[in-house]
Amino acid sequence: MDKIVVVGGKQLVGEVVVSGAKNAALPILASSLLSQGHHLFRNVPRLADVGTMCKLLGTMGARAERGTGRLGDAVAIDVGHVTPEAPYELVKTMRASVLVLGPLVARHGRARVSLPGGCAIGARPIDQHLKGLEKLGATIVLEHGYVEARARQLKGASFTFDVVTVTGTENLMMAACLAKGRTVLENAAREPEVEELARVLNKMGARISGGGTDVITIEGVDELKPIEHAILPDRIEAGTFLVAAALTAGDVLVKRLVPEHLEAVIGKLREAGATITAEEGGLRCKGPNVLRAVDVKTLPHPGFPTDMQAQLMVLMCVAKGSSVITETVFENRFMHVLELSRMGADIRVDGHTAVIKGKRSLSGAPVMATDLRASASLVLAGLRARGKTEIHRVYHLDRGYERLEKKLRGLGADIHRVKA
Ligand code: EPZ
Repeated sequence: MDKIVVVGGKQLVGEVVVSGAKNAALPILASSLLSQGHHLFRNVPRLADVGTMCKLLGTMGARAERGTGRLGDAVAIDVGHVTPEAPYELVKTMRASVLVLGPLVARHGRARVSLPGGCAIGARPIDQHLKGLEKLGATIVLEHGYVEARARQLKGASFTFDVVTVTGTENLMMAACLAKGRTVLENAAREPEVEELARVLNKMGARISGGGTDVITIEGVDELKPIEHAILPDRIEAGTFLVAAALTAGDVLVKRLVPEHLEAVIGKLREAGATITAEEGGLRCKGPNVLRAVDVKTLPHPGFPTDMQAQLMVLMCVAKGSSVITETVFENRFMHVLELSRMGADIRVDGHTAVIKGKRSLSGAPVMATDLRASASLVLAGLRARGKTEIHRVYHLDRGYERLEKKLRGLGADIHRVKA
């Protein structure tokens, strides 16, 4: 397994370009199953999870291929005859595989998708996805670790989510596109990636209103057509670079992002003392010499994103004062705390709350990545720590960041990957 080696202490300076959003690309690639023919998606990030989704689509009969040359940022998908089965071998490596469920039932009348199972950050149930599909008229049978869903024809219905769920909202929005009649989804997720999926589905001929709000209305249509589309920038990758600049008292222009998607993160970074200004299609972040401790509570969008919690915690480890971080979305998303403590951080966890006592610095150490955003936080900690930090099991990182160490090296970080 590869590892990443960082020698801390460098101020990050320069410009960095954000890649396409992983959590927009995954549902959008899955939505290709709603139509026949040739889709072309641009600005698709080169990530392990995107590769897994392409492999999954391929096993079902939707050939997904990465472009070459000037189409190197694109993925072309040719949807032919589809076998509506998502095997355990692939689903177990990526929970977002569950996003093929809605499209398969809607367009092919049946789906056999392995239950995703949990992951490091929590149980990750899909009860809302299944409850919603049943409301649309599907029959759901769970056996041998698989979801068997069948529906001759889905029918529009009203459905209120018991909890705000991003992929749950995306799955049901996709299924409702081809249902007969009107569907109204209440307490829907408002993430920008949900809004982007609604935009893509409408481009394919769907009739969706309210994407990005908590009430989404979908008028069913008979069929959708293949499209071309460029994926929106990844707000979490962008936020990770803003934190890196703030953490190293740096001066970084983060380019190709949508500032409105990062309001909660920008607000917290400013509270912590960073200077963030809009500049030529990006944001410039200047880190202060002394960071201030701030409290944060993760919430569904537009609240502070859970996917930025670990990154902000690193900032608080070296801020002046004590801060309280409350994780309200997932039940076990403090796996990075033990590793940060090995680097000298003073963090006490009590259930969903972590209390961080800021210190002047951290000390480099060998650490272990446990999940995607935790691994990003360990890289960030290495940028600030005295001496050398080795991050092991970086396959977690490669699921969600495109060449992170290369981009950070471009900003002056002393960081490189050691191939296994
Ligand atoms: C999406 O996961 C993202 N993944 C996650 O990003 C992100 O952390 C999460 O939304 C929250 O923003 C993708 O979009 C591919 P949820 P998702 O369903 O949809 C509970 C990353 O790092 N829940 O919004 O799986 C669930 O247990 C990843 O890029 C149910 O109880 O998350 C959790 O506590 C990590 N029943 C809460 O809702 C359900 O049927 C939010 O989960 C579904 C969810």
